[in-house]
Amino acid sequence: MMYNCALLKFKDIVSNDGHLTSIEERIDVPFIIKRIYYITGVAQDAERGFHAHKTLHQVLICLNGSIKIRLKTPIKEEQIKLNDPSVGLYIGPLIWREMFDFTKGSVLLVAASDHYSEDDYIRDYNLYLDEAKDTFLSHSIHE
Ligand code: TYD
Repeated sequence: MMYNCALLKFKDIVSNDGHLTSIEERIDVPFIIKRIYYITGVAQDAERGFHAHKTLHQVLICLNGSIKIRLKTPIKEEQIKLNDPSVGLYIGPLIWREMFDFTKGSVLLVAASDHYSEDDYIRDYNLYLDEAKDTFLSHSIHE
């Protein structure tokens, strides 16, 4: 898995009556959760994201259906499919993300380490490459 990203496996408490997963800050996710948001009703041909964050930490969990995430750094690209509510994709700062192939009825829950701030976004890919290149090229990060 690439630098500043990880797949987290949460405890899946299964019974005859279904599944329960709980997520506790600093235990199941590596930060204090200040915000949650969720994305629903995405058309199958729609693509979201196309940004990186300067400081924000997030965990993405697909609660229903499946969603693909393309992760990019100046030196690597990786694709992840989320389709299990007991799995979270941790994305740290300075990772470019694109979300696509949302199945009908899919639900993406996101836990974030801070309140919403547009100032924390890098929405221009060339600007992202410029801002991230020092981190990835000069610190011997080859993941
Ligand atoms: P954005 O983060 O760009 O969504 P995505 O990456 O899924 O495409 O956010 C879309 C819009 O929603 C943008 O105008 C900012 C706004 N927004 C908030 O007001 N609060 C939030 O917590 C988030 C995540 C977005």
